[in-house]
Amino acid sequence: MEVIIQKDAEMVAKLAANKIMKLVNQRPNCNLGLATGTTPLKLYAELIRCHKELGLDFSKVSSFNLDEYVGLDSNHPGSYHCYMQEHFFKHVNMDKKKTHIPNGMAKNIPIECEAYEAKIKACGGIDLQILGIGHDGHIGFNEPSSSLGSRTRIKTLTELTRKNNACFFKREKEVPYHVITMGIGTILDSKSCLLLAFGESKAQAIADMIEGPVSSMVPASALQFHPHTTVIIDEAAASMLKRKNYYRWVFDNLPHWQA
Ligand code: GLP
Repeated sequence: MEVIIQKDAEMVAKLAANKIMKLVNQRPNCNLGLATGTTPLKLYAELIRCHKELGLDFSKVSSFNLDEYVGLDSNHPGSYHCYMQEHFFKHVNMDKKKTHIPNGMAKNIPIECEAYEAKIKACGGIDLQILGIGHDGHIGFNEPSSSLGSRTRIKTLTELTRKNNACFFKREKEVPYHVITMGIGTILDSKSCLLLAFGESKAQAIADMIEGPVSSMVPASALQFHPHTTVIIDEAAASMLKRKNYYRWVFDNLPHWQA
C-alpha cells in the first residue's frame, strides 16, 4: 500500500485529481469507480476545474458508482444518483450512457446486483476505484462484519453510518436502512484503488486499515491484499499512524522512474 501524506484536504484532492487526469489522458476509455460522501467533493471540484480549464475529456470514460440507497428514486436529493449529477456529471462531458449507479428502486434486488457485477465485467473491469472511508472503517457501504469476499448485494446500515450520512437528508429518519453496494471482493478486483481521507475523525480508521490486522471488522483493511492501492490523506487523518515518517520518506525519495 502506498501511503501519501499531504498538508491538507486541498492538497489531497489536487494530487488525487492529477492521478485521475493522467489515467484519463493515457486511456481515454478507462473505467472509473466513483465514490460519494463528503470526502470526494473536493476531488470532483478539482476534476471539474481540470475539465473546464485544461480540457480534460471524459467523453469516452465509463463510470461505476460504489453504492446507492434502496428505495430512493434517482431524483431524490439524498440519492447518490442525484449527488453524482449535482457534484460531477452535470459539470463535465461524461456520456450518460456510460455512467452506472446501482438502481435502488429495482424490483428484484439480487438480479440488479448480479447485473451490476456483469456490467463491470463486460466493460473490462474497473481501472481505478476511488474510495472514501467510514469512521468504522467501511468502504462503499460494506459495514463491519462484511465478508471480505463479498460481491454487489444489499446491506443494512449501522446507526453510526446513518447518522454520519444524515447531512445529505433533511432529517436523520429519512436516511434509508438498506443499500446496494459493491462488495469488498468487487472492490478488490479493481486494477487500482485510490482511497482518500482527511480530518482527525478518520485517524483511527486509517490507522486500523493500514497498520492493523486484516479483519472484516475493519472492511478497508482488506485493501492490504490489493497490489495497487494508494492512500492519500492529510496530516490529521495520518495522526495515528505509527510509521508516518517512513511513509513520508518513501514519498519524498521515489526513484526517478516512479516519481
Ligand atoms: C458513505 C459512503 C462511503 C464513504 C463514507 C464516508 O458511507 N457510502 O463510500 O466513504 O460514507 O463518508 P464521508 O466521506 O462523508 O466521511
